[in-house]
Amino acid sequence: MYEDLLTRLAADLVAGGPTSDVLRGHESDPGPSALALRLVGGLHRLVLDGTASALAPFYPTVGGRWEGDAAWPLVLDVLREHRDALAAGLGSAPQTNDVGRSAALLGGLMHVLEAHPLPVRLWEVGCSAGLNLRFDAWDYRFDGGAWGVPDSPVRLDDCWRGRTPPLRDTVDVVERVGVDLAPVDVSTPDGRLRLMSYVWPDQADRVARLRAALEVAAEMPVDLVAGSAGDAVDELDVERGVVTVLWHSTFWQYLAPAERDRLAARVAEIGAHATPEAPFAHLRLEPVRLDGGFENLVELTTWPGGVGRVLGESAAHGVPTTWE
Ligand SMILES: C[S@@+](CC[C@H](N)C(=O)[O-])C[C@H]1O[C@@H](n2cnc3c(N)ncnc32)[C@H](O)[C@@H]1O
Repeated sequence: MYEDLLTRLAADLVAGGPTSDVLRGHESDPGPSALALRLVGGLHRLVLDGTASALAPFYPTVGGRWEGDAAWPLVLDVLREHRDALAAGLGSAPQTNDVGRSAALLGGLMHVLEAHPLPVRLWEVGCSAGLNLRFDAWDYRFDGGAWGVPDSPVRLDDCWRGRTPPLRDTVDVVERVGVDLAPVDVSTPDGRLRLMSYVWPDQADRVARLRAALEVAAEMPVDLVAGSAGDAVDELDVERGVVTVLWHSTFWQYLAPAERDRLAARVAEIGAHATPEAPFAHLRLEPVRLDGGFENLVELTTWPGGVGRVLGESAAHGVPTTWE
């Protein structure tokens, strides 16, 4: 659906149509800002909240089915009519909070615990609604095993391939803190709408996964802090008796170079404070540019020692993760 829609939007942009009016001022946005997803997310939101009801017959999330030729003239109408709202929406990063990524983060966490079997203090930067901070509320299934809550409405099938991470039955999480420039409150209809708007409407499994995760998250609040990751991580340090884990997924690309440098420097500083009684782990699932494209690598660095390694590689939304 989005291949077709974005191809049409791109052609209209080049031709100077309504798409170019919406995108004015963003012509030089770099690819990693995911401008295309910001735009189609804005459109999807107008469909989900009923503003662009004429498009409902074409959006699977509201019971429709995409038919490009029939939908396109109506998309153009929406671009014209809601230009200002759509343009305003381009200012914030997509909030694609996908719990499929918990599969990668959980496996990485098992490696952390193998080295440092302690209670976990978990911080996530760029957490969106913090859904992945609830990682231990999902039902993980993989060839030859399972982990988590067997009857959870969030079931991640075939989530791990390759060498199974060193499993332990439970993870004792003593603190969960999420930081985001614009944290999403899943207890509000607006927050739920915002998250759903960034899911690609015809990806039924992701839509179902998010709906189920929202149900669980409403019953399992976590601490969300509004602010920049750079500021927040300045406040983080190691603590005796727990392993402090800083994780993030699909977040690094949105940072300005100065904030990236600042975060990397602070991570190294926290690492330098780590001891065997107060260890630190930096776990990430981020797209990394490799020959010929991107791969979503699961990478882990632990301190003391500061040893870093690639643990595996994930599909864009986490499932499946293939372990090395
Ligand atoms: C694509 S979402 C990923 C959400 C979540 N990590 C996941 O993988 O499901 C990127 C998130 O990073 C947040 N973000 C971008 N820049 C940030 C910054 N400088 N500090 C904190 N959060 C930021 C955005 O608000 C957005 O919620």
